[in-house]
This record gives sequence, C-alpha cells and structure tokens, in this order.
Amino acid sequence: MTGASKGAPSSPVAVVTGASRGIGRAAALRLATAGFRVAGVARSVEPLESLAEATGGWALPCDVTRPEDVTALVQAVEDRAGRAPDLLVVAAGVFTLSPVAELESADLDLNLDVNLRAGILTVRHFLPGMLARKRGTIVQVGSVSGRKAFPGNGAYAASKFGIRGFHSVLLEELRGTGVRATLLEPAATDTSIWDPMNPDGDPGLPDRAAMLRAEEVAEVIHFVATRPEGVQIPFLPVERS
Ligand SMILES: NC(=O)c1ccc[n+]([C@@H]2O[C@H](COP(=O)([O-])OP(=O)(O)OC[C@H]3O[C@@H](n4cnc5c(N)ncnc54)[C@H](OP(=O)(O)O)[C@@H]3O)[C@@H](O)[C@H]2O)c1
Repeated sequence: MTGASKGAPSSPVAVVTGASRGIGRAAALRLATAGFRVAGVARSVEPLESLAEATGGWALPCDVTRPEDVTALVQAVEDRAGRAPDLLVVAAGVFTLSPVAELESADLDLNLDVNLRAGILTVRHFLPGMLARKRGTIVQVGSVSGRKAFPGNGAYAASKFGIRGFHSVLLEELRGTGVRATLLEPAATDTSIWDPMNPDGDPGLPDRAAMLRAEEVAEVIHFVATRPEGVQIPFLPVERS
C-alpha cells in the first residue's frame, strides 16, 4: 500500500498508544501512510485531533494507567472499527533518571505505572477481541534498558525488564492462536522524553545527534506489522549502526 490514506472502511485498523508525540506519533503517521486506519491514543487531546485530521483516523484520548479508561478505549475502537484492531502498538511511556540511592517513590511509581502496569493492561484488554478474530499483531515498545544496565535507570529498567518478562509469557500463551507479538527494544531515540535531561549538556548521556530518529523506529514498527501472516518477530532490538 502506498500514499497517504484517508482510512477506507476496509483498511486494517491500528491502535497506537503514545500517539501525541515521539515514537507513537511517528508510528501512527507511518502506518497511516501505509493504509492503516489509525486510532491515536494519549492524554493530550489537541495533538491527537490534528493527527486524526491528517490521517483520517480517530482521536481517542485516554489515560492508559486508568483501567476504566482502557476498557472504554477498547469499546470506542470496537464502535468505530466494528471489530478488534489488526494492530496494537503500545508506545505510551515515561522515563526518569535517578541513582538508586536518590530514587523518589513518585518516580518509581510513575515508571512502573505507565511503562509496566498500563502496558500490560492495554494488551490485556485488547487481547480477547484479537483472540476471537484469531488474528492481529501486538507491538510493545520496550527499550534497550529492558536488557542492558545503564546507571540511573533503576526505575525505568525495572519497568522495561518487567515488560520483557510479561512479553515472554504472552508469546507462550499466543502460540497457535493466530495472534502474534513483538517486543521492540530501541536504543536512545531523539524525542521529547529526553527534554528534562538535556542530554547534549550531560557527558553521561548520548548526544541527540547520535540517537535514532522517531521516524526510523516507526519504520521498524511498520516492518514488524507488515510481515506475512504467520510470521512473527518475537524480539527486535533496534540500534544506530
Ligand atoms: N526516546 C527514547 O530514547 C526511547 C528509547 C527506547 C524506548 N523508548 C520507549 O518508547 C516509548 C515512547 O517514548 P517516546 O520517546 O516517544 O516518548 P515521548 O515523546 O515522551 O512520548 C510519550 C508518549 O506517551 C504518552 N503517555 C504518557 N503517559 C501516558 C498516559 N498515562 N496515558 C496515555 N498516554 C501517555 C504521551 O502522551 P500524553 O502526555 O499526551 O498522554 C506521549 O504520547 C516509551 O515506552 C519509551 O520508554 C524510548
């Protein structure tokens, strides 16, 4: 499929969390260009509406840490698409840095709540519809910090290693169901997630110019989502060469 899509009724449907900016937004735009009808999910309404306007998709504001919001989100997708999505991209996330000895419990809660608990909840609530259709692709955006240790990443790594554990169980449960899943583990990517840390001014952090671009990670998400039916990429690290 080529060219910008205005989301024909027969188009495959993608739900993308974290679609207001960064990797999620880039993925939503890339998928829409490939012909997916995209439901963009985040808390910020305006960027979701401009995304929906640009892609012919849907703006579905939602705080993914709230189980009742996620339940309503699944229903909102079903109401608009008439079925469960073909693709779920879980890209909503947060990132804070702190040595373990100085870790604030609020930062620990935030990382675990958004990256781990909400990621699990999102998959858990979309999965029954995908299983009923015996098809669909789930892409969870983990991180290089989910398999490698970096000082200051205690809370973030706990959440991303957690998602790796959850994803490993999910893979086992999905065998033979027709639903496939990928854990994408990008290296540092130049998005607004780094803004509070000013990485270019900190010798301990990668320069933005050396990071992946959100559009490059989005390209990989598109690749994973468009493999032939029956072909699964269970884990995919993504790095700068
Ligand atoms: N950037 C990197 O270096 C990097 C590397 C590896 C992996 N990752 C992972 O990639 C994912 C996306 O990161 P990014 O760099 O694109 O970050 P970003 O630019 O800060 O975007 C984060 C997205 O998550 C959404 N979000 C946060 N909390 C939410 C909540 N409670 N409910 C709904 N949406 C929420 C934000 O939307 P609202 O604020 O509008 O809700 C925003 O759309 C994260 O899981 C991150 O860990 C990033």
